[in-house]
Amino acid sequence: MKLGVNIDHVATVRQARRTIEPDPVEAAKTSERAGCDSIVCHLRKDRRHLQDEDLKKLKKTVTTKLNMEMSIDPEIVDIACSVNPDQATLVPEKRLEVTTEGGLDVAGNTEGIKSCIERLKENGIEVSLFIDPDVRQIEASKKAGAEIVEFHTGRYAEEFLSKGNVEEELENLREMIEFSIKEGLVVCAGHGLTYQNVIPVARMNGIYELNIGHSIIARSVFIGIEEAVKEMRELIK
Ligand code: PXP
Repeated sequence: MKLGVNIDHVATVRQARRTIEPDPVEAAKTSERAGCDSIVCHLRKDRRHLQDEDLKKLKKTVTTKLNMEMSIDPEIVDIACSVNPDQATLVPEKRLEVTTEGGLDVAGNTEGIKSCIERLKENGIEVSLFIDPDVRQIEASKKAGAEIVEFHTGRYAEEFLSKGNVEEELENLREMIEFSIKEGLVVCAGHGLTYQNVIPVARMNGIYELNIGHSIIARSVFIGIEEAVKEMRELIK
């Protein structure tokens, strides 16, 4: 199973002072040195962490795979088409949210998402849809022309933290992975995964890649990003 490292929160720290450090591009290089399989970053409409210049530099420096998380906002789609990351992951985006809350409602806007996917694919960008692990959303993703889906694991993470119904969430994830694979989709997962809760998800058959940000960057405050990425890789293995 592959590991994508989301480096947004390195930029969050930098933007807290609107200065030049820490540099998310350096964080990406160090993560790659530590053996991650892709670099994930989210250029938000409000530019709260990653900036346009960061994205351009990442495009030049990332040697694994650059996976740009993005909304379907036309301004952001234009930027993606000019920068050409290897992959775009379409996510919902609300201005006031702290982080991506829930998956993209593909079933509620299949045509809009389909045309966005077509435009990105015309530019040679692979497209993944960040959705809840739900049959309706999987079917709609397939209809919209996606080849990859990423399951939002936030609900599992919440149940884990509150010692709630973890098994039910895991069982649903298992079923939805199986269903997606039958539909011919590549399955990834992420959001809220930590050093504490990642193992049951990493044990699941059929997941191609896990994308993890907050927990790795949080751990790197204490042990450095290289070690933090290596530890997560070991756990996933
Ligand atoms: N995958 C997607 C599509 C996301 O939007 C995020 C959050 O930016 C992540 C993975 C990583 O989530 P976390 O920071 O909670 O690990």
